[in-house]
Amino acid sequence: MAENYNGLICGDSDILLQEMLDAGIKVDLVLTDPPYNLNKDFGNNSDKLSLEDFLTISKKRIELCHNLLVPNGSIIWFGIHHYIGFIQSIMYEVGLNYLRMNIWYYENGFSRLTTAPLTQYEPFLWFSKSPKKWTYNVDDVRIPYKSTARLKNPVYYKNSKGERVKWEPNPLGAMRGDVWAFPTLAGKLFQDEKAPHPTQKPESLITEIVKAFCPKNSEGFYEGVILDPFHGSGTLGVCCEKLNRQGHKIKWIGIELEERWCAVARERLRNIQ
Ligand SMILES: C[S@@+](CC[C@H](N)C(=O)[O-])C[C@H]1O[C@@H](n2cnc3c(N)ncnc32)[C@H](O)[C@@H]1O
Repeated sequence: MAENYNGLICGDSDILLQEMLDAGIKVDLVLTDPPYNLNKDFGNNSDKLSLEDFLTISKKRIELCHNLLVPNGSIIWFGIHHYIGFIQSIMYEVGLNYLRMNIWYYENGFSRLTTAPLTQYEPFLWFSKSPKKWTYNVDDVRIPYKSTARLKNPVYYKNSKGERVKWEPNPLGAMRGDVWAFPTLAGKLFQDEKAPHPTQKPESLITEIVKAFCPKNSEGFYEGVILDPFHGSGTLGVCCEKLNRQGHKIKWIGIELEERWCAVARERLRNIQ
């Protein structure tokens, strides 16, 4: 029943994704930050698998997510540099269409490790179901132009026909690139947002990704179904609900295995002003 798959669900995605498929559920966007297999303590063994088991289970999950997508749907899948190459190969194997390897650049990265470069990023893959059609809301995620000097004088370029064309700045800003610079939740600055989850994502980053990839209705509001099968402390749900308070109509499904993190997610949802 579709109404059973709505909002926060405390349960096991390895069971529920198949149940959702059997119930005929379809989603526009899978936006998820699954266990990276880095031995983190989520209160379960999901991040502590052998590489072989990690790849087997990742493939099963990606296949199920692929099958849950509407024809023009997309998957945004966070990973880590150690294993992202394997995950990307799986996405090709299951027949998804590559669109971009994005980088979340930690604006405030730091490290005590002196034997290797400072870790400054996490990759997130964007694949679509269709090779022809997908959602990308280019104007919703424009960023301020770096230099205002070049905006003062007209800039000309030659188009594909060799014609001289005047370039004018877009009043909404420059096009976003595939390096997404957002701070992590480290330090005092983010103590109000930080929940007691070891790998909580910042709302700023997840909201921006929703704005970029969620379908919109004819009135310009986000309207679509977003699935996060590894919901953790509930960041995706919180971001969608905050957008919905501005008039958007996002339906979201967030699945989390651990009751402890479900409780944190419920609390965060309750605290939305
Ligand atoms: C990387 S964290 C997600 C963090 C989240 N993005 C946030 O901002 O809080 C991955 C989460 O997936 C959960 N998880 C692991 N296996 C799961 C499964 N089979 N079904 C549902 N959740 C699972 C873990 O308990 C963990 O909280």
